[in-house]
Amino acid sequence: MANITFTMIKPDAVAKGHIGDILKDITDAGFTIKAAKMTQLAKQDAEAFYAIHAERPFFKDLVEFMTSGPIVAAVLEKDNAVADFRTLIGATNPAEAAEGTIRAKYAESIDANAVHGSDSDENAAIEAAFHFAAKEIF
Ligand code: CMP
Repeated sequence: MANITFTMIKPDAVAKGHIGDILKDITDAGFTIKAAKMTQLAKQDAEAFYAIHAERPFFKDLVEFMTSGPIVAAVLEKDNAVADFRTLIGATNPAEAAEGTIRAKYAESIDANAVHGSDSDENAAIEAAFHFAAKEIF
């Protein structure tokens, strides 16, 4: 799945009405949507999804934020998907995100940073499988 990445439009961007804006930025950048759904993470879902960050000081706030409202989860396809998507969304901290990136346009803070993007091909496959059954990825 080297041409696949996984994203979530986070509760802040959903609450501010930016689902359509962000999906348009994503498809305008050449990504194809292979799977998408609106859902809300339970505490145990968010803890499992972000288990890699369990020992980090921001973990509790991250889980609280990611369960605070609905998200949109999606699987995206493009050549070089993981790296190109991280360029499209910009730095984790929106204060450091390049102009024109999704986080520069829509994010509020390092927690409420509008979108998630996988950081490796391996994690993209794991994260896509966390949210979608194989038959839901088209
Ligand atoms: P995300 O790409 O979803 O992965 C982990 C999230 O933790 C990250 O986006 C940020 O929203 C959040 N976070 C909060 N503080 C930090 C930090 N100091 N470093 C990295 N991520 C952080």
